[in-house]
Amino acid sequence: MADGFAQSVKQQADIVRIIGEYIRLNRSGGQSFKGLCPFHKEKTPSFNVQAAQQFFHCFGCGQSGDVFTFVQKMENISFPEAVRSVAQKCGIPLPKREFSSPEEAQASRLRSKLMEIHEQACLYFEEQLQSPEAARAREYLTGRGVTAEAIREFRIGYAPDSYSTMRDRFQSAFDEEVLRGSGLFSSRDQGDGAAGPMYARFRKRITFPIRNEAGRVIAFTARALDNDEKAGPKYLNSPETPLYTKGHVLFNLDKAKQAIRQFEFALLVEGQMDCISVYMAGITNVLATSGTAFTEAQVRLLGRHTRQVVVNFDPDTAGANAAEKSIALLIEEGFSVKVVTLEGGLDPDRYVRERGTQAYIAALRGARRHSDYLIERARTLFPPVTPDAKVKALNFLLPHMQHIPSRIARDEFAADAAQKLAIDSALLRQELKQAAFARRTDVRSQSSAAPGWSEAEKLLLRALTLPIGDPARDAARQRLTEEPALYEGLAAASLLAAFAAAEEAISNPFALAPDEASRHLLATVLMKGSQEIQLEQVENACQSLRHSRLERRQRELRRSLAEAELRNDAITVQELMAEKIALDRDLREG
Ligand code: UTP
Ligand code: MN
Repeated sequence: MADGFAQSVKQQADIVRIIGEYIRLNRSGGQSFKGLCPFHKEKTPSFNVQAAQQFFHCFGCGQSGDVFTFVQKMENISFPEAVRSVAQKCGIPLPKREFSSPEEAQASRLRSKLMEIHEQACLYFEEQLQSPEAARAREYLTGRGVTAEAIREFRIGYAPDSYSTMRDRFQSAFDEEVLRGSGLFSSRDQGDGAAGPMYARFRKRITFPIRNEAGRVIAFTARALDNDEKAGPKYLNSPETPLYTKGHVLFNLDKAKQAIRQFEFALLVEGQMDCISVYMAGITNVLATSGTAFTEAQVRLLGRHTRQVVVNFDPDTAGANAAEKSIALLIEEGFSVKVVTLEGGLDPDRYVRERGTQAYIAALRGARRHSDYLIERARTLFPPVTPDAKVKALNFLLPHMQHIPSRIARDEFAADAAQKLAIDSALLRQELKQAAFARRTDVRSQSSAAPGWSEAEKLLLRALTLPIGDPARDAARQRLTEEPALYEGLAAASLLAAFAAAEEAISNPFALAPDEASRHLLATVLMKGSQEIQLEQVENACQSLRHSRLERRQRELRRSLAEAELRNDAITVQELMAEKIALDRDLREG
């Protein structure tokens, strides 16, 4: 891809808006924005975005770069793909595609073909739901209160009871590689290692497309119409494919993310049917984990949109276990978590339909702090009437307490638990202390001592990263190229040299920084000044560098002189004196 195109995209893209699509950013003054870093775990924001200079930097983990670097890292894609992605987000027409390697081109072609076959499959299933064969499926959906509107909105469909119909229909439009790679078809191994003929994976099932964050269909989950053994598992999912990794997707995130940001929390349910019913009832910030405990990838995905979660899992044992695991993970990642348990043993789907939206909203309002929920659960599992049961209840709670990052919240949890389990609270605190926490050390405390840069060095670094054509940039480049002695031996010498040598605009100044300490410092410097730099300031900075060089030399001379005098080395003393006199004069005049 031509560099010119990347440059032009970068000029038109607003880094704050693009990054803001992935994580929450808050203005932290002037042109600076702050948020929780998507690249490492943190509870207080150390991720900065600079609107004026169009870069980001995380003081926690040291990642930095421009809008392309960000999208590359977020989406795990190549530079050309990131340029295209940003261009698309900004509505900039794309030039013809070029790839850095044939493998990359091949993988990208396959992915886009897989997207296409999933979209076609989704349309096919939707169409099949209207066929005569699907009468039972339609009755089933109606019986469960799924409206025509919900069917449209969630693109619910039907996979006919046939091994071959879908394959015959798709065979002419897609290559074998795409058909096999899609996960929409299965085949039996023929024994000689070769894959046998393909047949439809989903049969006689109601289909629900699984969409990525952008709303593209990347997989399916399909519910059996019959509950008997012959029908196989109740829900059958797509296998992992180049498009789909289980545990990396949150069902309904594409539709819910806006509401999640608006309401500042996400409602987490287990099943997609729960999710659909709750969403159709107007509670649109709802996501489904699809029957498993939360994964770290899902926590990260969710963390880009909110840090507050209300969990409403099924009231059965599986649901309670999944809830506990999910709570532990969310708490560990610094989320605030509340838990809803619905009365009558109902799941969210049935509760909404049987008791109505208002009742469900009331139940949500009654969500308990996760610590209260867990204490209650401990009391149910191990009624604390005997010392033995109290120990068990305590052992159930201890790991949860340890996961809480905040000491205050941890102590509060412990005090509540002590009271409700009738345990001596001093004893409990003792237990907590002994259960040695191996807390992750904050990355920030590990960063090495930052190199010392003078104000003059900082100003020149800033000047050199100004856009091409800025007089201050030109002046700084000229001075430093003509007089490299200006910066020799300085802490920022290598950066100044690299910046001064750059003919083009420096798109990622951080790439030139030699180590993490200097990347942090560079970010601080570049973030401070977004205001114009006057030519006079450049001159003053150069003058100040000259002056400090002379002062350094003066100190060296004094030391050498003292040494030469001690050695009675008259000749050297004389030479050094001459230099010192000239130097003193320069310093007085400069
Ligand atoms: P449930 O068994 O609670 O399903 O599993 P449900 O949501 O109540 O389903 P309905 O209401 O009977 O249709 C919860 C979730 O676990 C996953 C699905 O995502 C389901 O929504 N699951 C369940 C599977 O992946 N496979 C299964 O065989 C069963
Ligand atoms: Mn359920």
